[in-house]
Amino acid sequence: TPRVFSGIQPSGGLTLGNYLGAMKRFVTMQDAGTHETVYCMVDLHAITAKLLDPAELRDNTRELCAGFIAAGIDPEKSILFNQSQVPEHTQLAWIFNCVARMGWMGRMTQWKDKAGKNAEAASLGLFAYPALMAADILIYHATHVPVGDDQKQHLELTRDIAAKFNHDYGVAFFPITEPVIEGAATRVMNLQDGTKKMSKSDPSDKTRINLTDSADAIARKIRKAKTDPDPLPEAAADLEGRPDARNLVNIYAALADTTPQQVLDQHAGALFGHFKVALADIAVDKLAPISTEMARLKNDPAEIDRTFGSRGRTRPRDRRPDPEPD
Ligand code: TYM
Repeated sequence: TPRVFSGIQPSGGLTLGNYLGAMKRFVTMQDAGTHETVYCMVDLHAITAKLLDPAELRDNTRELCAGFIAAGIDPEKSILFNQSQVPEHTQLAWIFNCVARMGWMGRMTQWKDKAGKNAEAASLGLFAYPALMAADILIYHATHVPVGDDQKQHLELTRDIAAKFNHDYGVAFFPITEPVIEGAATRVMNLQDGTKKMSKSDPSDKTRINLTDSADAIARKIRKAKTDPDPLPEAAADLEGRPDARNLVNIYAALADTTPQQVLDQHAGALFGHFKVALADIAVDKLAPISTEMARLKNDPAEIDRTFGSRGRTRPRDRRPDPEPD
């Protein structure tokens, strides 16, 4: 059976980008029942930018776990666990550190963005990050990896690592993984600047919708989102060059499980003042239940631990998938 693997960092705070670009699609793949679905809270990746206090990391991991549960990940259907609970991730990552080339890693745009001008001061873990990510995926021989668009280059690197390993050892051991980057919202943009990605690290909270936002906050942020004065066009192609407008149409489409063109078929000619009301309605409708459930779970960490393991760590080792299925 094809196997899906994907991961999210417990780096504190989940955005609409994480939800539409990743979690919502994880749930769809889980419920389709056509794949085994394995999802991971990648806590070791979350310390590459800055070492976190253990208590903070544990809280973040519980919050992320609550997000998975609230979004619809079901322990009967999917495996959900903590990366650090399965030591084989770091063991394989070491081997991949010896497979990957410095040049490959140095070309990663996320490395360049995150290390910035002062790469000398960045951690070695930040540089090696994509090799650990490749290990996460390949240790389970996963065939499909749903992610947002920003992870595309890392998945190409994962394919390169698998291919070089297979070639150098003369065996077809690791699969050449398929990225699954599909749907209207593989790149959800900043609500105040449609040329930038929506991110939990932006200093301004107005730029993003958090999965923990109240219905009021969601509606307000959409009402205040940047737009342009023109009405919605008839054809999706005419959203080209209108990044803010396109972003809101894409968000609507993803929330409604439809396509940008179908959204336009319904709303062409409307001004954004009007369209935002409809968008706020559907966003509140779809997202408020998630934030309500996350708030409930926040007050009941024991339920999180019961659902997915103990001590805020999830998935005991004996329930992990077989790393070598064949
Ligand atoms: P992370 O934790 O930054 O993000 C988790 C997922 O959310 C997606 N995402 C977005 N999608 C659309 N629009 C956005 N604005 C947006 N922001 C975030 C990301 O693309 C991602 O799918 N390196 C990964 C974590 C990881 C992983 C893995 C993923 C570690 N090992 C193995 C897949 C397979 C990361 O930092 O994601």
